[in-house]
Amino acid sequence: MIKKTLQLLLLITSTSCGQSWNTNSKDFLLSGNGIDPSNTNLVTAFAVINDECISCHTGYHNSWSTLNTDQLWIANGSIVAGSALSSPLITRLKNRGGDMPLLSPTLTETQYNALINWIDAL
Ligand code: HEC
Repeated sequence: MIKKTLQLLLLITSTSCGQSWNTNSKDFLLSGNGIDPSNTNLVTAFAVINDECISCHTGYHNSWSTLNTDQLWIANGSIVAGSALSSPLITRLKNRGGDMPLLSPTLTETQYNALINWIDAL
């Protein structure tokens, strides 16, 4: 039993990608992340990514927290401008039969639509 618990803990720790901050303060990026406030689609989408994805997607694996323009997201390969349904950021979602966000519930309809609207309008 103890061994199983330890294995589970190890699994959870290793899938969190070396996260090294307190995820309870989820809005740490929205203050001063350099996003143009007039780009409301990105601001809205980034709030979802910040809440649901950044805890794992920043660290040694990659660094989504530094992607503060549409162009950087496109260049990163996570999204295809104007085509949400061909974008890995969308196709990997539980909403579309994928596995993201890992270890968290499916995005709400509002969160999902914020991502779709952002990408499709690019
Ligand atoms: C609990 C940790 C965790 C959370 C939360 C999480 N991911 Fe991931 N994600 C991973 C890991 C680990 C990988 C790399 C392994 C793989 O591809 O399965 C990954 C890979 C991906 C990839 C493949 C490309 C890449 O960057 O490696 C996409 C796209 C992705 N995740 C999207 C998302 C989105 C969108 C969210 C938020 C809605 C999210 N993930 C939330 C852990 C997480």
